[in-house]
Parts: sequence; structure tokens; C-alpha cells
Amino acid sequence: MFHRRSSFSAKELKETQVSRSNELADLIRDQIRKSGPVSFAWFMGQALYHPIHGYYSSERPRVGRAGDFFTNVSVGKIFGEILAAQFVELFDLLGTSDRLKILEQGAENAQLAKDVIRALATEPKSAGWEYWIVEPSAGKAGNQKAHVGQTSIPTHWISGLEQLDPFSGIIFCNELLDALPCYLVEHDGRKWMEVRVQEKNEVFEFVLHPIENADLIRQVGRLPPPSITPYRTEVNLATLDWVKSAARALHRGFILIIDYGFPRDELYSPLRTEGTLVGYYQHQRLNDVLQRPGEIDITAHIDFSAIAEAAASEGCTVLGFTDQHHFMVGAAERRLLEIERLVGAGPMSPDQQRFLRGYKSLMHPNTMGLAFKYLLLGKGVAAAQAPTGFKYAKDPAPTLQLRE
Ligand SMILES: C[S@@+](CC[C@H](N)C(=O)[O-])C[C@H]1O[C@@H](n2cnc3c(N)ncnc32)[C@H](O)[C@@H]1O
Repeated sequence: MFHRRSSFSAKELKETQVSRSNELADLIRDQIRKSGPVSFAWFMGQALYHPIHGYYSSERPRVGRAGDFFTNVSVGKIFGEILAAQFVELFDLLGTSDRLKILEQGAENAQLAKDVIRALATEPKSAGWEYWIVEPSAGKAGNQKAHVGQTSIPTHWISGLEQLDPFSGIIFCNELLDALPCYLVEHDGRKWMEVRVQEKNEVFEFVLHPIENADLIRQVGRLPPPSITPYRTEVNLATLDWVKSAARALHRGFILIIDYGFPRDELYSPLRTEGTLVGYYQHQRLNDVLQRPGEIDITAHIDFSAIAEAAASEGCTVLGFTDQHHFMVGAAERRLLEIERLVGAGPMSPDQQRFLRGYKSLMHPNTMGLAFKYLLLGKGVAAAQAPTGFKYAKDPAPTLQLRE
């Protein structure tokens, strides 16, 4: 997500809040009264994905000017075109005549799918390629189908990755993992505690609780001990489960993850004592993510080191890791040189102007260039294989602090 404004005043927030009563808050309160404080992951799961009241279940626009955030896709079809060209390079690297699949998860309104499919369809060798979208919500899948419309590349929907037999191809996601529910933990100077959610006088608030979840205990054991306390941060077990399931779904091929996040030492830096968790509503940043569940977006940066380690446990290797700035320089280089060559011969076409405008937004460090990172994982492919998007990337193993 990209936001023009990074802060808000209390008055502004009050003015922008929707006024309908919050049924989801009532449901969450009932659960807390029955079971005691709930994990933040459960709270965030309800706030974003409750089948009726969840933020991502409603019909209201989320992406774009009328919504709460911009994504790379908001820049225009150029993002999908650049990704499609990278997928063609990846298929060449796979070097097989099998039927190849591209599978996207977290497609939201399917605008990116539409842009990628249209660009792929112009490829002479696209016969036999298929596009798959994983969408658990039947209602959203229906809207996505309507938006994508007729395509010359066969396009299919499934509700879970496990429905496919292991296949050869590419699995990718753009801003899926930062929207998966995360746990919160806090170090008090002596030990890590889980930060759960309770309610007092109808208001949700955080409360510290001993960590009981075995997976959370294991993952917290990998965090660098904070030198400044109290230190609160996020641990996202769902991102690790997702990348493992993606690795299992692949027979041979690549996983491309595009998202907000850092290598472990940067995400858990001593300077980041309050973590990265934030809410967004109408392009304004909200620090209190507990109020008005279902009405605001909630997101946290992801730990690319932990994701790479989880993928390795399922037979994947890291082929590349870089930020969007460097990715775009490599991925668009050929097209830019082509424009440069043609410009000498006459004025720039509207299409070339559109490309350059979009390219600048995607790659400029002051707009989207530094916020997003690209992690490329491979399964059953040679270690040195990466497309041009990773041409200017640093060696991923030391950057991600991967153990040999
Ligand atoms: C921030 S949006 C993604 C934006 C979109 N990829 C784009 O480029 O504009 C996160 C999306 O992930 C979806 N999502 C969350 N969990 C999912 C899951 N298990 N399978 C598929 N989609 C999921 C949400 O419904 C939402 O549409």
C-alpha cells in the first residue's frame, strides 16, 4: 500500500469515521467474555476476514482514490506488463514444454490479474499457459471473474492452494502476506510475552499474557534479544504457513513474493520499539488498530528472513531479494533502451509517455521504490537462475542473514 499522508489528527479521524454500529465489535466482545483475552492474530483475522463483517469481505472499494490505500496496481497496467515480462523470462528459465501455470493469491479486485493476462496474451508462445487465482471467498471470486472477463489465456479459480496437484510454473502474490493475521509479542527486559486483546467498558485494549502457542514460542526464540525495552513487535506465523504451502504446491518452478517488509535484523531493529502494525482508513494512518474492527485496514511488515527459512524447509532456495527500485531498473531496462532508441527517430508516442510516467512512480525512491521488496524462491531449478528484475540485486544470503 502506498499512502500520500502518513499521519492524522484526532479531529480528522473523528470526521472520517463511519457512523454505523459495529456488529463485528459486538461479536468479538462476546468471544472475549466467553474465552478471556484473544490473540491479536484471531482479532485481526476477524477484523479483516469475518465472512460478513470483515474489512476484506465487504463490497466497498479498498484500493485506489475512493478506497483506503494505493498499490502498485493503482499506477496503471504498466505494473502488470512488467511482471508479465518477468514471468515469460521465468518460463524460459524453466525450459520445459509442460503446460505451465501462473498462480496468483490475494488478487483482491483482480485488476493485476487482468493486466498480467492481457500482457501474457501478446506472447507468441503463450499457448498452453494457464492463469489460476486462489480466492477463498466465493463472492469475491464471482466479482473477479466478472472483472477479468473473456481471456485468451485460460483462467481458473480455486479456493485453496491444496486443491491443485503439484505443478510446474509460478506462484506469486502482491501484498498478500502483509494482510495475513499476525501475533503481537512484547519483551519487558526479562522475557517475551504475548500481547492479547481484552475489552474493558466496551473498549478493546491490549494485555500481556504468557506465550502458550508452541509455534509462536519457537519463532520468538529466533528474534534478536532487544536492547531497548519494553519492545513490542509482530510475529506472523501465517506467512510461514503460506510459503510452505506454496512450496508444496510446486513440482518445479518459482515463488515471487512482493510486499512490505525487511530482513530480520531490520524488522527487529532496536529502533523499532513499537513494531510496524498500523491501520488505514481513507488514506490516513491509524495507530490504534483495535477500534472499529472491520472498517479499517490492518497491516504489518513481513519478515523476509523467516519466510526464506520456512521455504527452505520445503525444498526451496532463495534466488533473489531486492527492493522495487532495483527490481524496476533491471526489469524495465530493455524497454527503456528501446524507448531511448526510438525517441531519436521522432516524438514519443502516448504509450511510451504512459510507460515512463508509470515507471517513475513505481521505481522512484520517494514514491514506491523503496517500500516494496521482491523475494524470488525456486524449487527444482538451478541456483543461479533469476530474471532481469534481480540483475542489480545484492547477494540474498547475507542480506537475509540466512544460515548455510
Ligand atoms: C492488500 S490486498 C492485495 C492487493 C492486490 N494484490 C493488489 O495488487 O491490488 C490483500 C488481499 O489478500 C486477500 N487474502 C487474504 N487471505 C487470503 C487467502 N488465504 N487466499 C487468497 N486471498 C487472500 C484479501 O482478501 C485481499 O484481497
